[in-house]
Amino acid sequence: MNSYKMMLGAAALAIGSTGAAQAEKLTLYCSAQEDWCQLMANSFQDATGVEVAMTRKSSGETFAQIKAESSNPKGDVWWGGTGDPHLQAAEEGLTAEYISPMRDQLHPWAISQAESAGNKTIGIYSGALGYGFNTELLAANNLPEPTSWADLTKPEFKGHVQMANPNSSGTAYTTLATMMQLFGEDGGFDYMKSLHANINQYTKSGSAPIKAAGRGETTVGIVFMHDAVKQAVAGFPITVVAPAEGTGFEIGSMSIIDGARNMDEAKQFYDWALSADAQNLALRVNAFQVPSNMGAETSDAAPDMSAIKLIDYDFKTYGSSETRKRLLKKWDDDVSTLPQ
Ligand code: G6P
Repeated sequence: MNSYKMMLGAAALAIGSTGAAQAEKLTLYCSAQEDWCQLMANSFQDATGVEVAMTRKSSGETFAQIKAESSNPKGDVWWGGTGDPHLQAAEEGLTAEYISPMRDQLHPWAISQAESAGNKTIGIYSGALGYGFNTELLAANNLPEPTSWADLTKPEFKGHVQMANPNSSGTAYTTLATMMQLFGEDGGFDYMKSLHANINQYTKSGSAPIKAAGRGETTVGIVFMHDAVKQAVAGFPITVVAPAEGTGFEIGSMSIIDGARNMDEAKQFYDWALSADAQNLALRVNAFQVPSNMGAETSDAAPDMSAIKLIDYDFKTYGSSETRKRLLKKWDDDVSTLPQ
């Protein structure tokens, strides 16, 4: 391990000497919740003096941006967001290989994400997909309490369900991929079509639907369960559901952008972001994901992953370029165009 660290140090120095004029700056692309992104950027800046320019965009949008900028990369680190587009970025050579000295502090699920992508990405948190509903709106509309995915397609839920667009949002792509794995590809698309009939809006960002449910603008929001818990903890009348059929989950990820202009700072951020202290910052903004550092704390309010019926999510397949592109095109062509 020590000689490995020395090798990494030497590599970082060699790169640093060519890019000295741009030292002490970091461009961070962030795909977790905005408040958490800001806290991470500010805390790293305070801890190191490195000046951080952070932009929050959804996972699919960030992937598209990194791809569009690949001949002249502007970002250094992509932190947060669902793992699937991080895996696709790795496969397409948009992100750089890096083995952090912090790696042995991580849960095996975070490391296997790295290993399946030639060490071009790594797991930083995990969370299960589900949905939340506004109890007051449910009662006002005389709707029965939904407990399953199937319940959301019942005719009485027409106009009551919101989710994000799977092209922009990793949350919504996880939903699409989960239906493929629960019901098979034909059954999964049949499900997405039935659900479409009840959708009132496809938002850009993954957590927007549950924020809207909290404000009383939609009855149900399909989101990661931790995003629904965050609204409930904030005092909104939200009930969180782990769907009866079982559900998918994310391995929220981090990657260094290939050709990063500030490679030393990118690695510095990467190592810091894997530390227990940096991951504990999540609790300050009620981000209730399961952290990847084994020494980091998980809140009592966080969804208990061991009590949720999780599918054996196939990250390799659903994070592959071929599958992600094909499923999104099929959703665009066969689902989003249907009348509502
Ligand atoms: C929320 C969740 C994260 C997730 C992210 C994906 O911020 O808290 O766990 O990774 O959504 O965002 P997106 O907008 O791509 O669905």
